Amino acid sequence: MRKIRFSFLCSIAILCAMFQGTYAMEFAEAHVVTSAGLPIIDAQALDANEQFVASLRNQGFALIKNPSPSIDIRGLERESGDFFNMTDAFKNEYHKDKSPIGLGYYPFGVERAEGATEQNFMEYYHYATGHRLPYMFSEKVEGYFAAMRIVKIMLTQWIDQVHTKEGFLLPTRIQNGGINTEGKEVRGINSVEEMAELDLDSNIVRIIHYPAVSEDIGKVVNVAHTDISALSLLFATQPGLQLLGKDGRWYDVGANPDVLVVNAGDMLMWGTDGDRPENSVTGIKSTIHRVIRANDQPRFAFAAFFGVKPWLQIQETLTARQAFDKRINGNLAKAGEVESVAKDSGDIDAITDGVGTLTLGDNTAGEMDGVADIV
Ligand SMILES: [Fe+2]
Repeated sequence: MRKIRFSFLCSIAILCAMFQGTYAMEFAEAHVVTSAGLPIIDAQALDANEQFVASLRNQGFALIKNPSPSIDIRGLERESGDFFNMTDAFKNEYHKDKSPIGLGYYPFGVERAEGATEQNFMEYYHYATGHRLPYMFSEKVEGYFAAMRIVKIMLTQWIDQVHTKEGFLLPTRIQNGGINTEGKEVRGINSVEEMAELDLDSNIVRIIHYPAVSEDIGKVVNVAHTDISALSLLFATQPGLQLLGKDGRWYDVGANPDVLVVNAGDMLMWGTDGDRPENSVTGIKSTIHRVIRANDQPRFAFAAFFGVKPWLQIQETLTARQAFDKRINGNLAKAGEVESVAKDSGDIDAITDGVGTLTLGDNTAGEMDGVADIV
């Protein structure tokens, strides 16, 4: 079962993967608004919860300054550089195929855009609590993961606080509980916090390396997609992350090692009916995003992905497990959706740059069967 769960998680991370406009912007001050229009929220502010939910509703993303005192992004950057600069032979000693649960090193070429001539240009390492790490990584990695778990709880509580204040109730299918696909009775859920409450080993950290390349600035290195997680929490050392605005244009999210990027995923959207027309204002939507090469510096990103309970009736006809399975097996249909958004927006560049379809690499081919006990 653990293998199945981790396979799912790794697949989530793989799915967790937008061009034009300015992209050299970095933000440094607490009140700076990035080109994506995202305010930087002070986690200590009395109305941080309301600012956070408003940002998710408007953009599907939120930026939070200094959400935890125990995060050392520069330290993680150093350690990650030490690992990714090693030889392929060394890194492949930690290859994900050598792990029974798909954790470890994912080399270049594992993930690609279907129809594109090149794969997503990144390598990464999947870590979960209790699993191995190369010697250059210290306790900072687990410390980061632990901090992100706590931040995740804080953020889901913020959503619940706003929902309570507004009298917003979760969909009845979630509140009622019911019988899961294995025939077991499951209890209802009354909060987003509980919806996203998981065993500690059911989440994952992805340490991502986009190598320094002095050419092709502006190139898409991680194609347009939405995350299927409930919440994706991310620190990045360089700009490059972009989100697709409601006007169909790409906007920079920015990068600052003190600022957490929060991305609402599909599971959170579905679990709160954020995709329903009647919730067009107050619903939380997952937002299409991508990564471009913004400069000639190596870019490291530290992403923690958090899902929802697997048996949750996340959509009218699908449990979270089934929805994920459908995403994996119906991946091209989802990618088509991305393509139609870009087409509707007139962002032809996005399509010709291989953004149109998103598919999974070899790494997930053997894991699809195991989408059983997901997050
Ligand atoms: Fe993503």
